[in-house]
Amino acid sequence: MIILSIETSCDETALALLKDGDVILADLLSSQIDLHKTYGGVVPELACRRHIEVIGPLLNETLQEAQITLGEIDAIAVTVGPGLIGALLVGVSFAKSLAYALGKPLLPVHHLAGHISAVFIEHRIICFPAVALVVSGGHTNLYYMAERANYKLIGQTVDDAAGEALDKGARMLGLGYPGGPVIDRLAKTGDVEKFPFKVPYRSSEHNNFSFSGLKTALKQALLKVSPDQQEDPRFQNDIAAGFQEAIVRSLIEKTIQAAKKAYVQSIIVCGGVASNSLLRSRIAKEAIQLGMDTHIPSPQYCTDNGAMIAMAGAIAFEKGHHAPLNLNPNPNLKIS
Ligand code: KG4
Ligand code: ZN
Repeated sequence: MIILSIETSCDETALALLKDGDVILADLLSSQIDLHKTYGGVVPELACRRHIEVIGPLLNETLQEAQITLGEIDAIAVTVGPGLIGALLVGVSFAKSLAYALGKPLLPVHHLAGHISAVFIEHRIICFPAVALVVSGGHTNLYYMAERANYKLIGQTVDDAAGEALDKGARMLGLGYPGGPVIDRLAKTGDVEKFPFKVPYRSSEHNNFSFSGLKTALKQALLKVSPDQQEDPRFQNDIAAGFQEAIVRSLIEKTIQAAKKAYVQSIIVCGGVASNSLLRSRIAKEAIQLGMDTHIPSPQYCTDNGAMIAMAGAIAFEKGHHAPLNLNPNPNLKIS
C-alpha cells in the first residue's frame, strides 16, 4: 500500500511516498523561503504561482527517488486546509487530477492533523490520553486527544501565533525571515536576564495564549535601548533570548497546566516552532518530573513536510475517510 502525499498550504511544496503506513520511500520539499524573504513574509500570489511551477517536476523527482512508477500508487493524500486558498487550490487540483487519472482514492488531510501525525513517523507507541500542542507560523492550538486522530480543542491563541510573534519580533530586530530559527540560534548565547519580558496569561486558569502584547513590549524595549547597549556585540543575542524565553515559557506553562488538569499520559509537541531547541529540551524535562512522556518529531518533521501528510493520509485511509472528486480546499477548515 503506497500513499503519495501533497502539501501546498503555505510556502513549501512538499511531496512524499509512504509504504504500508510505515516506511518513507521519499520525502521531498521545495522551499520558497528565498522568494518571500525580500518581503519579510509569505506573499500569497507568489506562493501559489511557485507551487504551480514546481509541483510537476517535484512529483517526477519523488517517484525517481523512491524508484516507483505512478501506477504503483494506491492512494493520494492532500492537505485540504487550513492555509492560503490559492496555494491549497494548487495541491488539491493536482491531487484530484491524479486520483481521477489513476482511479485511486483521494484522502483529505487537515494540515494540523498532519503536524500531529508527524509524531507517528518516529514514535510508534504513544500512550493516550495525550495533550497535543500544535505551534506553527499560523497556529498555536492545544488539543486533548483521547486516542489517535481524536482531537478536542482545549486552548488556542487569542491573537498572534507563537511562530508569527517570533517572525515579527525577528523583523523588528532586523534578523530576516523566517525569524524563529534565527532567534533560536542567537538566543543560545544570550543572557535571558538582560531583557526580561512578561509571560502572557501566566496566572490565569484557562489554556489560551496571547502573543501580540509581547510584540509591543519588544518594540518598547527597543525604543529604550541605550547607544551603549546597542553597541554591545551581544545585544541581539540578549534581546532574542529574553523574547524567546517569554514565548517558550508561556507555551510550556499552558501545555503542562492543561496536561495536569486532564490527567494525560503523554504530551505531543509539533509544528514549525516545535523545532525550537529551548522548547524541546525544557518541556521534556518538566513533563518527565510529572511522570508524562513527551513526543516531539525530529526538526525536519516539525516544519511543513510531505511525510506528515502521508502519515495522516494513512490514518484517514484506515478510517475509510475518502474524499469525492469534487473536493474543494477550505482555508479555514476546522479539525474533526
Ligand atoms: O509549521 P510551519 O513550517 O508552517 C506553518 O504551518 O506555519 O511553521 C513555520 C514557523 C515559522 O514561524 C518559523 O519561524 C517557525 O515555525 N520556526 C521556528 C524554528 N524553526 C521554524 N521557531 C522557533 N525556533 C525554530 N528553530
Ligand atoms: Zn504547518
